[in-house]
Amino acid sequence: MPKDNSGIQKINGNFKGKDIVSLDQFSSKDIDIVLKVTKKMKTIAVNAKPSRILAGNIVTLIFYEPSSRTFGSFAAAVKQLGGQTIEIQDPQHFSSVSKGETLEDTMRVFEAYSDAIVIRHPVKGTAEAAANAAFFVPIVNAGDGIGEHPTQALLDLATIFEKHKRLNNLTGVMAGDLLNGRTIHSLIRALALYKGTTLYLLSPKELKLTREDYNNFTSRGIKLIEIENETQLPKNADFWYWTRVQKERFSSLEEYEKVKNKFIVTPELMKTYAGKNTILMHPLPRVGEILPEIDNDPRAMYLRSEVRNGMYVRMALLALILGKV
Ligand code: CP
Repeated sequence: MPKDNSGIQKINGNFKGKDIVSLDQFSSKDIDIVLKVTKKMKTIAVNAKPSRILAGNIVTLIFYEPSSRTFGSFAAAVKQLGGQTIEIQDPQHFSSVSKGETLEDTMRVFEAYSDAIVIRHPVKGTAEAAANAAFFVPIVNAGDGIGEHPTQALLDLATIFEKHKRLNNLTGVMAGDLLNGRTIHSLIRALALYKGTTLYLLSPKELKLTREDYNNFTSRGIKLIEIENETQLPKNADFWYWTRVQKERFSSLEEYEKVKNKFIVTPELMKTYAGKNTILMHPLPRVGEILPEIDNDPRAMYLRSEVRNGMYVRMALLALILGKV
């Protein structure tokens, strides 16, 4: 049966068949559902319980931009649940995209072979275009340029919830490339769904949120405090969310060099401003903005639960959109 393609739809408690393009589709109740199913998925994965939840399902992973975590965790998620994948990395070289095939035709082809398509693309808005192109199967946005990365935001919420047992009344720090950071754009949208959120935004002035995004987010009720240096960091925030300055988004290496690694997490910075319950997150990859000395600090989540939660959350989301839970 063709899916409803009258635009990107709100989830409204029902994930089945829906495209997942933006956090704007979610309410806090929808996030509750994802977190609840994620807990079940974690049990399956941690106990290596053979699952047939996605038995008979095939999911296409088509990544026009490089990825380690998102690609790997989606692939693992499908396999954990007994499904199969069609995996295309770099379709610009390894598919008929190299011969000029359009995005629309590519989506029509792979929806014929699979039950869902997970797409990453360097151009903002492409996941929505893909969702509009596919007639029958849901499309999941695995990152669209500087737009959004909704499944990353869901795993970040799962990581915060695991530690603090709540998603309201949180104080957080977001640092790095706020202008180009799609994980930032989705996570702010997600946190804006909860009361009492305050975020301190630390970035070089060239990499602040656009004024359009800033005004859009604050109009939702979230408190955003832009700061210019580490001395303005709050003490004992609930979380720090550090991000990479994204070389691939700059028009010249010179422009990138001017702003890279202005803010680095060091043991001294943690000691001065983080509290014993402050968790340190990063969507990864990192390129110098968190020193390796921090990795064994129990508050450092990025190479531990944050990465693992990526697989559990993606298992949950796939099971939900394919109507299996
Ligand atoms: N966090 C994230 O999106 O990582 P990858 O680019 O490796 O998928």
